[in-house]
Amino acid sequence: MQLTELPTPQVLIDRGRLMANIKRMQTVATSGGLTLRPHTKTHKSPRIAKWQLEQGAKGICCAKVSEAEVFADAGISDIRLPYPINPFSATRVMALMDRVKLSLAVDHPKVAEQWSEAMCACNRQLDVLVKVDVGYQRCGIAPEMTQAVAFLSHVTTLPGLRLRGLLSHAGQSYDVGSAEELAAVAKNEAETLRALADGARQAGVKIDEISVGSTATAMLSASEPDLTELRPGNYVYYDRSQVAIGSASLDDCALSVMATVVSKPASNRIVLDCGSKTLTSDTGRGMVRPVGYGAVFATLDEATPDDSLQITRLSEEHGVVEVQNGATALEPGDRVRVLPNHSCVVSNLVDAVQLVDGWTVIETLPIEARGKIV
Ligand SMILES: Cc1ncc(COP(=O)(O)O)c(C=O)c1O
Repeated sequence: MQLTELPTPQVLIDRGRLMANIKRMQTVATSGGLTLRPHTKTHKSPRIAKWQLEQGAKGICCAKVSEAEVFADAGISDIRLPYPINPFSATRVMALMDRVKLSLAVDHPKVAEQWSEAMCACNRQLDVLVKVDVGYQRCGIAPEMTQAVAFLSHVTTLPGLRLRGLLSHAGQSYDVGSAEELAAVAKNEAETLRALADGARQAGVKIDEISVGSTATAMLSASEPDLTELRPGNYVYYDRSQVAIGSASLDDCALSVMATVVSKPASNRIVLDCGSKTLTSDTGRGMVRPVGYGAVFATLDEATPDDSLQITRLSEEHGVVEVQNGATALEPGDRVRVLPNHSCVVSNLVDAVQLVDGWTVIETLPIEARGKIV
């Protein structure tokens, strides 16, 4: 089937770029002596996860229990949840533990104690990693040595829990202003975790794993000593924000949205059939903050976006493109491609993506874990 036979909007995945991205990140991790455990929140597809595993990934990450259930159903046997899963989900977590090697993150004493109680009640052992805040100020224990080591020691005393090590996500890497600042984020993350691991070991706490993960810092983290695992997710597709950060080029971006011009109210304004229910309202991140809700390629073949076509407004099903300094030759019925600001949230909005090679649709891939947020 050809792209032109499909109705729009459609999320397209360039197979060549996807496979190249999977292989490149695996090589980065392997050459740095680290294992790769991709975060599957980006693609939410067991098929793609299996391609990552075939290339050498040790296991996968999911954020939520329902995502993990989908990947477990598909036969994936090693799943890490680098998320502060609440023990409310203990029954489902235990059911998963019957089927897969499972580990999750803890960063709060009460939560760790509740997991301990839940595991003791059924005589089980849950692998946990302590999440450390390396500057993103989202989740994680503060890396202040005395308190952090006290927390780690406490976790080791809790029956039913087996402490595997430390885990972090340097999400602040998406908001840096320069390549130097990005390098400093990666370095600081590694130094913080190394120091904490040393301090913990001196206090008699066994730290077997030090796991870091963000696409923006992955290449830099790979050469840091003592880290054991990389958990990037976005790298399979990349997106406009990653290009603005410098972690990918336009030619690496595997996900785009094929859309149709559905209206042309003025020579300098057209409307695409992809609104916030396709592109999401995520704005761009990165050193040179991208304008609007996606980069528009004026034809399906175009290799570079037309910067004069700016998606300035979204309604749910309308993408309003304002033409900067002039008119556009695009007319209703014409097709364009849009590179979204943030690919992970786009793939969560569709039941299936089209795996393509140029204009040829190779396969329609169902996104089995899409919408799995519980
Ligand atoms: C805990 C955790 N690990 C890994 C990742 C993957 O990072 P990225 O999206 O930069 O690939 C994320 C992303 O949100 C995350 O929250």
